[in-house]
Amino acid sequence: MLSNHLPAYLLQIICLLIIILKTILIATCVFYWFKVKRYVTRHKSPITSTNPRAIKIAFFHPYCNGGGGGERVLWQTIHAIQIKYPAVVCVVYTCDNINLKDLLDNISRAFYIDLLPNIELVYLNGIRYIEPKTYPRFTILLQNLGSLLLAHEALHKFQPDIFVDTIGYAFTIPYFKVFGRAATCCYVHYPTVSTDMLEKVKSRKDSFNNDTKISTSVILTNLKILYYRTFGYIYGFAGLRSDVTLVNSSWTKGHIDAIWGPRANAEIVYPPCDTSTFSGLHLTRQKPEDRFIICSLGQFRPEKNHACQIRAFNIFLQGLDEVSSGLCELHMIGSCRDHDDIRRVQELKLLSESLGIERRVKFHIKLPFTELLQCLSVCDVAMHTMENEHFGISLVEMMAAGCIMIGHDSGGPKFDIICDYEGDKTGFLAKDEIGFAEKLKEVYLMNLEERMAISSNGRKYVLDKFSIDTFEREIILKTERLFNQSIAS
Ligand SMILES: *[C@@H]1O[C@H](CO)[C@@H](O)[C@H](O)[C@H]1NC(C)=O
Ligand SMILES: *[C@@H]1O[C@H](CO)[C@@H](O)[C@H](O)[C@H]1NC(C)=O
Ligand SMILES: *[C@@H]1O[C@H](CO)[C@@H](O)[C@H](O)[C@H]1NC(C)=O
Ligand SMILES: *[C@@H]1O[C@H](CO)[C@@H](O)[C@H](O)[C@H]1NC(C)=O
Repeated sequence: MLSNHLPAYLLQIICLLIIILKTILIATCVFYWFKVKRYVTRHKSPITSTNPRAIKIAFFHPYCNGGGGGERVLWQTIHAIQIKYPAVVCVVYTCDNINLKDLLDNISRAFYIDLLPNIELVYLNGIRYIEPKTYPRFTILLQNLGSLLLAHEALHKFQPDIFVDTIGYAFTIPYFKVFGRAATCCYVHYPTVSTDMLEKVKSRKDSFNNDTKISTSVILTNLKILYYRTFGYIYGFAGLRSDVTLVNSSWTKGHIDAIWGPRANAEIVYPPCDTSTFSGLHLTRQKPEDRFIICSLGQFRPEKNHACQIRAFNIFLQGLDEVSSGLCELHMIGSCRDHDDIRRVQELKLLSESLGIERRVKFHIKLPFTELLQCLSVCDVAMHTMENEHFGISLVEMMAAGCIMIGHDSGGPKFDIICDYEGDKTGFLAKDEIGFAEKLKEVYLMNLEERMAISSNGRKYVLDKFSIDTFEREIILKTERLFNQSIAS
């Protein structure tokens, strides 16, 4: 494909360049190999306060005081390990300048995770090597090469028995495997390059690389594809050195399998979702029985496809008589990030006016949390219309709140969230506005008991599948062989 677009001489130059690069790389590797090996074996673990024979597991997580979803996964994993293996020493490589006590306070406050203090922090100085702002060009590649320097510093400061990358720097895995002789594991939230990115560059959309020069030039586009391909290849090579590969959703697994190849053997461990406030709501809806309330929850972004919800609602109303349709309402709850989103809401309002249902469609922008709960507590059925959503945390929240969920028949809603549980339905899937309208009608015609059966099953299901307990159980189960291996050796 590439050769169709490139003149022959350019192709030759590229080949030559690749050969030269490879030679340099191999020579460097050989040199480095001996140097690092000597270096590492001379500097054994400086942490001496603990039993030298205890297994040591180290987590590579430079921004460990971040307080985001990635950090929740990190600390919850450490919590699980502390309970299952009390003698194991957990170590976190970090670039954050915070002492252990403050950090544990932060974690306890932010995530309600109470950790035992037998955690060691190993501080790294080389944060600049992985910061995107250090590399204005070829960011992904250089950042990952930079992570090797950071890994070098990390291994020099502490050599673990088990190495876990929880932040997505796959290059660190072979480094610790080869030079640190550690068993390796990684938890991938998001693939560093994905087939989606390649598609976007290929279709030469401006949205991804907002560099019109690149998208207009065939050669540059092809070079960019070559760059991503090459990076993807090295990324896969590095990733395959992981003894245990865990991913956070079916979407991520799909991409890891595609880029690393089937040998990646990625296993899904869903991160825990905090649904406790939603699941505190009554399952019985607190409203007059004959009113039928539909909700949707999500930012007013174009890909969420809110227009589909309004059209589906309209089709559904057309199948009802005057009086019944007067008792139905659609509540769209969401937030606007910018002017485009605000304009989009205006367009949605115009759409509902043009369909003559503006009195039945309500918009709630930036609803306070208590009012959001109030809204969900009266909601019979909820819609989520985005196609190929990666995961869809809002579906989990709405199901926990006891709404009957109709999700799009693709992506996370299909593969992760709306699945049968104990042989029964937990919600519905639909493909287009007609499908959504049919499902709305189906729920509308159900009696209370039938609705309750689905909403309570859906709630039980999400509370089980995305709970903290399930996460900890799965993490322990899937990493068991790393610990067995380390005990044996
Ligand atoms: C965590 O600790 C740092 C420094 O001690 C503090 O500035 C920050 O606000 C804390 N974060 C949270 C989420 O408590
Ligand atoms: C997996 O991680 C990505 C990136 O942080 C996030 O967008 C996605 O929602 C996560 N999936 C789950 C199941 O939490
Ligand atoms: C792309 O760049 C142009 C001008 O340089 C800017 O007006 C536009 O908002 C940018 N688009 C995105 C998606 O960042
Ligand atoms: C690990 O060791 C335990 C106890 O020796 C054993 O029960 C378990 O099956 C082993 N697991 C794996 C995956 O080898």
